[in-house]
Amino acid sequence: MLTASPLHLSVLRLFAVHSFLQSLAMLSSSSSLPGASLVVLSLLSCVDSAAVDRRTPVPAGYVAPPYYPAPYGGWVQDWSESYRKASMLVSNLTLAEKTNLTAGSGIFMGRCVGNTGSALRAGIPQLCLQDGPLGLRNTDHNTAFPAGITVGATWDKDLMHARGVALGEEFRGKGVNVHLGPSVGPLGRKPRGGRNWEGFGSDPVLQAFGGALTIEGIQSQGVIATIKHLIANEQEMYRMYNLVQPGISSNLDDRTLHELYLWPFAEGVRSGVGAVMIAYNAVNGSACSQNSYLINGILKDELGFQGFVMSDWLAQISGVSSALAGLDMSMPGDVHTVPLLGNSYWMYEQTRSVLNGSLPLDRLNDQVTRILATWFQFGQDQNYPAPNFDANTQDAEGPLYPGALFSPRGVVNQFVDVQGNHAEIAREIARDAITLLKNDNGALPLRLNATTFKVFGTDAEKNPDGINSCADQGCNKGTLGMGWGSGSARYPYLDSPIDALKARGANYQFFNTDSFPSNSNPSANDTALVFVTSDSGENYITVEGNPGDRTSSNLNLWHNGDKLIKDVAAKYSNVIVIVHTVGPILMEEWIDLPSVKAVLFAHLPGQEAGDSLAQVLFGDVSPSGHLPYTIPHSEADYPASVSLRNFEVGQPQDTFTEGLYIDYRHFNKENITPRYAFGHGMSYTTFSFSNASITSVTPLTSVPPTRSAKGETPSYSTAIPPASEAYWPDNFDRIWRYLYSWLDKNDADKAAAAANSSSKYPYPDGYSNEQKPGPAAGGAQGGNPALFDTAYDVSVTVTNTGNASGKAVAQLYVQFPANTALIDTPIIQLRDFEKTDGLAAGESQILSLRLTRKDLSVWDVVSQNWIVPDPQGDYGFWIGGSSDALTLRCGSATGSCEEDVASPV
Ligand SMILES: *[C@@H]1O[C@H](CO)[C@@H](O)[C@H](O)[C@H]1NC(C)=O
Ligand SMILES: *[C@@H]1O[C@H](CO)[C@@H](O)[C@H](O)[C@H]1NC(C)=O
Ligand SMILES: *[C@@H]1O[C@H](CO)[C@@H](O)[C@H](O)[C@H]1NC(C)=O
Ligand SMILES: *[C@@H]1O[C@H](CO)[C@@H](O)[C@H](O)[C@H]1NC(C)=O
Ligand SMILES: *[C@@H]1O[C@H](CO)[C@@H](O)[C@H](O)[C@H]1NC(C)=O
Ligand SMILES: *[C@@H]1O[C@H](CO)[C@@H](O)[C@H](O)[C@H]1NC(C)=O
Ligand SMILES: *[C@@H]1O[C@H](CO)[C@@H](O)[C@H](O)[C@H]1NC(C)=O
Ligand SMILES: *[C@@H]1O[C@H](CO)[C@@H](O)[C@H](O)[C@H]1NC(C)=O
Repeated sequence: MLTASPLHLSVLRLFAVHSFLQSLAMLSSSSSLPGASLVVLSLLSCVDSAAVDRRTPVPAGYVAPPYYPAPYGGWVQDWSESYRKASMLVSNLTLAEKTNLTAGSGIFMGRCVGNTGSALRAGIPQLCLQDGPLGLRNTDHNTAFPAGITVGATWDKDLMHARGVALGEEFRGKGVNVHLGPSVGPLGRKPRGGRNWEGFGSDPVLQAFGGALTIEGIQSQGVIATIKHLIANEQEMYRMYNLVQPGISSNLDDRTLHELYLWPFAEGVRSGVGAVMIAYNAVNGSACSQNSYLINGILKDELGFQGFVMSDWLAQISGVSSALAGLDMSMPGDVHTVPLLGNSYWMYEQTRSVLNGSLPLDRLNDQVTRILATWFQFGQDQNYPAPNFDANTQDAEGPLYPGALFSPRGVVNQFVDVQGNHAEIAREIARDAITLLKNDNGALPLRLNATTFKVFGTDAEKNPDGINSCADQGCNKGTLGMGWGSGSARYPYLDSPIDALKARGANYQFFNTDSFPSNSNPSANDTALVFVTSDSGENYITVEGNPGDRTSSNLNLWHNGDKLIKDVAAKYSNVIVIVHTVGPILMEEWIDLPSVKAVLFAHLPGQEAGDSLAQVLFGDVSPSGHLPYTIPHSEADYPASVSLRNFEVGQPQDTFTEGLYIDYRHFNKENITPRYAFGHGMSYTTFSFSNASITSVTPLTSVPPTRSAKGETPSYSTAIPPASEAYWPDNFDRIWRYLYSWLDKNDADKAAAAANSSSKYPYPDGYSNEQKPGPAAGGAQGGNPALFDTAYDVSVTVTNTGNASGKAVAQLYVQFPANTALIDTPIIQLRDFEKTDGLAAGESQILSLRLTRKDLSVWDVVSQNWIVPDPQGDYGFWIGGSSDALTLRCGSATGSCEEDVASPV
């Protein structure tokens, strides 16, 4: 009986089969019936996707140039020992062992969301790849950390790193080799984009610190981190290539790519990240997964990336082409059109492509060497634990290969508790992210026993159906601690705001509804707490009409939150609004109401939603979060080009005509006053920024010093191996539709014969197999190391000038010299930030900030290098507590700092 297989449930429930289901839905009205879908599935296996692959041309001027060959890894000093070890292994592997390591064994064909093949003869196990950025997805006894956007809102580098360490401990504890995070793309160009909350905020520098510090934390535990999604994956809808439509094309110019979207990836590579995940979408019309300019050129040559490049799940759309373009690992291994049939672009097919001479062996050797060097780089050859959980089931026992119709069963979940004391770090982040936007007459902090609390909104308490009742958190019911999709985790518990009020013995009454109740009996001494939300997530789940992106909710609060606030504000005079949100919302309907006394953004706090909030509400600590994005007055405040692209016949085209001007860069340029500026956040106390000083460290030149040449890389024989290295072993017990790297003897022999035939593989235009020296902008991980030389150190004294204790954030924005106005550059751009310790009233702390050569450069598209437009010019370094509260300016030309200067924006 087909319906007995867990496969069908998995298909409907789990990650990344959405586009495939979408294709089915367009071809079969019965696709929601699991039984029928397998039949359709089989019928579809003969459909040629190319036949329906209609494309709308990219706008004139946007081109995806060729860049070949894929640069070998291993030329960076920090990695040379790992490459040495890897190359010794690789030189001894058979062809079928090599191609077994470059791809997954198939979707749902193992415990983790991705499972590579193994080469056990050489001691290399299957590698386990597992979601996601805020914690272990689909397992147990893990911490559900605050989401990336919440971490960004802390503006606290120590907390960013500490969360990374804790994530690393948990992933290692469960036996995960490769953590599928952090996410630094999307960058948040589109306020309605579904997955912005997985990253750290709508600014490349905030995003870069969040990503790089997370990577350093994770990798300190021997877990390989994956920076994702390369690149410009700014909306959920139409992201994937499927049977009937190519994925959306993000069309962006070279300077915008370098100065915004690539910036956090460069910092992640500089931190030594082990893996990069390629996005679903296209850039300039060419799918990221086979875009040679992006992977070979920008990532591997210019940024000097030494680890391996994997596809997003089912984002690979070709075999030889994607390998030539620099892809190293196919995930989860299946073809993108219809997974689960046992078809792959690589595995046995990659074996064939080497035997028949189409894929040069050196490319495969580099793929495998990169993967194994990364494995050695993080010490995973030494006592690394095997997976002890199964992302496909919460049961102790289950099928070992849920994707197979008939699978052996066994113990798959050992329920290992990996939480340690991570609840503390999670709570500290949730607390220090809370952002106070309004506080009339010192309405906050609240006094616990001077009042009766009337609590409104279903967001104040846990989902009554159960905290994990929606797969991948695909619903907005109860306290919103995270968005939905592959970036979610199961909660071990959820400390809700109501739990926290109870724990504090508060005198409260809770109305668990999103409509204003008639029986709340307002009284003059009541304080009303209103809890409201806005949610978003990944495209394969639609929640309340929102297919990942906030299409139907717009930027409004969900569940008529605006009306609830207004109704409460009409009856109560002391109203506190608490918002759990994935990103910017519109607040105009209620923000200026006199009875709305205070507003707190608690972002997405994860499991620690309650006490973290209570600590701020009741004044144990002052709020110290700052907005990681701008809040507008209206959606019309944004450039039209950042709205969501809707359905188009052919390839949807998304052209980034706003260039560098997203978020505050746009608001400042167009002189639009936002509702709340990027970086804004109030406290129960006040701070001054004073006594700043600036020191020149490395003198600037307009062009950076010349990079050094690449170091040695491993070399191997390039002779095509004998076909016998690909033959199936005798009497091998195959798992149904599992992906293997062997070929039938006949097929292998035929492929080897084809290598000598006259028919040659149609290599793309611009193809070459001569390794290049690498571009001027490269030279080390992250780019030319001179880019990261400190140009200026700036220090500032932060003083707590109020009556409560609290933490302040010093934000440093650069303003380019006035005479470089010919180079169109945003008025101010964030370049560094630091947060103080808790400062008692009257206490001071000196913070050090720094500016690198790259911080003061622009990407010159002609010379293809980072240029300081005017090395002697007067750069303004503006320091303050928000992007719109900058009155302290240090000048690079004068070498001095002035207070009470008119703000640049
Ligand atoms: C996209 O096209 C623009 C305009 O020609 C070009 O500047 C840029 O380098 C291209 N980017 C990629 C990744 O191909
Ligand atoms: C390669 O394999 C052979 C035999 O299988 C073994 O003797 C040799 O030590 C191996 N070399 C390396 C570098 O592992
Ligand atoms: C490929 O990996 C699978 C899964 O671990 C394993 O069964 C198979 O033997 C491996 N093939 C080779 C050539 O080692
Ligand atoms: C070799 O095999 C690959 C993978 O199946 C295929 O794409 C390619 O066209 C083949 N080349 C030749 C020359 O037969
Ligand atoms: C609240 O109650 C505690 C103990 O019940 C008492 O010590 C404290 O003074 C009270 N505070 C206010 C503001 O009434
Ligand atoms: C409000 O509180 C004050 C002082 O705590 C008290 O005197 C007054 O009776 C209270 N009013 C109501 C309506 O409960
Ligand atoms: C001013 O800053 C300098 C460091 O730049 C520091 O040594 C000095 O103590 C500070 N003075 C005050 C009053 O904070
Ligand atoms: C292909 O040609 C080479 C050299 O010409 C020869 O050594 C090899 O055996 C040939 N392979 C096959 C499968 O015919």
